[in-house]
Amino acid sequence: MGPLHELDERVEDERDDRGDKEHEQDPARCRGQGIEREDRQGEQDELDPARDDDGGDARGHRARLLGGGRGSCGASLVMLRSMEDALPSVTLLFCGDVVGAAGRRALLGSLDSLRADHAPDFLVVNGENAAGGLGITPKIARELFTAGVDVITLGNHTYRHQEVWAYLDEEERILRPANFLRSQPGHGTCVVERGGVRLGVVNLQGNLFLDSGRTAFSEADAALHELSNRADHVLVDMHAEATSEKVGLGWHLDGRVTAVVGTHTHVPTADARILPGGTAYITDVGMTGARGGVIGVKREQAVRQMLTRMPVRFETSEEDPWVQAVVIRTPRGKRRRAESIAAVHLPAGRP
Ligand code: FE2
Repeated sequence: MGPLHELDERVEDERDDRGDKEHEQDPARCRGQGIEREDRQGEQDELDPARDDDGGDARGHRARLLGGGRGSCGASLVMLRSMEDALPSVTLLFCGDVVGAAGRRALLGSLDSLRADHAPDFLVVNGENAAGGLGITPKIARELFTAGVDVITLGNHTYRHQEVWAYLDEEERILRPANFLRSQPGHGTCVVERGGVRLGVVNLQGNLFLDSGRTAFSEADAALHELSNRADHVLVDMHAEATSEKVGLGWHLDGRVTAVVGTHTHVPTADARILPGGTAYITDVGMTGARGGVIGVKREQAVRQMLTRMPVRFETSEEDPWVQAVVIRTPRGKRRRAESIAAVHLPAGRP
């Protein structure tokens, strides 16, 4: 979330008033989705290490395989062609920052509708404002996972609740920005799998106006290197304040990842498109939360602070909740490419 919440450290913690039932983690689900599979494409990267951070297309890899020694790689060539042909089209649904109880209710109450309309194979959610507008707790994360969220990404409020620190190390499918310091709890990438398709997710945070320990761009390259053999598709959540930094990262990763989606400002941008290299891109997805406030905060409180320049106790707004998301579809048979990206703005109503 943006600077409004930075101004007041006294945002009410909703953990006690939600009354949610603690959900047990489903270890079978974690095993099935969170653990990488056998390296199916080691051959191509061994033969072409210069491209090992690049999803590439089948033709490019085959050409290099042929050039590297046709006789010895014939079986690998056949296998790679078969794998590319077999890779099905998938649909990714990414929901913008879930803000407070209103955002959680909006998301959970809209999942049936979102599934009916878009049939997502993977659901990724930015949850960095899910607990009272600031951060996330293990209880809320488990609630989202139980509802069918595959991966939760975070941002500048990652460490707001100390109880989540250990959980960030334990749960593979919750990510904090990869370009935080290595000494900080958690990790910034993961791979989930469904229907034989492996989705890598990378969480990054901008360096302009936000306290990221390391640079996002170089860490993006490092993350892709890490995922080189592990993911058929890669979704990058760039949590950043500056539009320029997000646009720049989109160009930097174009053709190397399936999608770059921006979060943090809570206001959706109108620039969703497929970049020339085949990467789906949007500068900011928007917010899953109360649109009647000011980026999630009760508007009278936010306006009072802006008007008086005095500290004001902020609370999350409940008025006019919406789900703001993007739906990304990938073409059959192509790794790390998208064929469409569409914004979803769905009024969620009140429970
Ligand atoms: Fe944020």
